[in-house]
Amino acid sequence: MEAKSEHIVWQHTKVEKEDRHKINGHKSCVLWFTGLSGAGKSTLAAQMEMELFNRQIRCFILDGDNLRHGLNINLSFSPEDRTENIRRIGEVSKLFVEAGLITLVATISPYRADRAIVRSLFTEGEFIEIYVKCTIEECERRDPKGLYKKSKTGEIQNFTGITAPYEAPLSPEIMIESDNLSVSEAVGKILCYLQGKGYLEQDR
Ligand code: ADX
Repeated sequence: MEAKSEHIVWQHTKVEKEDRHKINGHKSCVLWFTGLSGAGKSTLAAQMEMELFNRQIRCFILDGDNLRHGLNINLSFSPEDRTENIRRIGEVSKLFVEAGLITLVATISPYRADRAIVRSLFTEGEFIEIYVKCTIEECERRDPKGLYKKSKTGEIQNFTGITAPYEAPLSPEIMIESDNLSVSEAVGKILCYLQGKGYLEQDR
């Protein structure tokens, strides 16, 4: 994105991300949950956060729905505003990872290009894309917020999967088929991945 401000000089600080990793006893990364509305991103992220927290891992959730109550309150569901939504969440998640936390992001993030831009903010291995895959039929059946119904009656426009696109990840680090796996099985799969990558090591 083009900068609108000039004469801005980067201010260097003295505490590095690696210093924070040492004090926390684990590395930081972002777990980026993407998928249709109703696929189970928020549920999974919330359970995952609990599991990490119980292991004394520093972690925090950035939930798309919640951020739209504050930081992103001025954004709609137009393609441009969704892009801006993801850009902001990406930048915030970058700061949280810099601060040493395992950061869990739950947002539809429907566009591949937007997710690729977020990925490019991070160093190799730090951005972990988790595709919460669920058929549109199952999401419509669940319809926890009644939004699919509203989109069918025309009460909601630009609804992802119905009247707006969702571009599924082509090679996510982790794929969770939420219509086949229980929440605890899915959490187990993600924990296993993090363990394998050394993110859960506690060497305080
Ligand atoms: S994103 O597409 O910009 O990534 P985000 O994750 O922030 O979306 O918000 C999605 C949530 O907003 C959904 O879970 C749903 O509850 C609500 N929502 C309201 N209107 C829409 C819409 N038109 N399309 C998708 N989600 C919507």
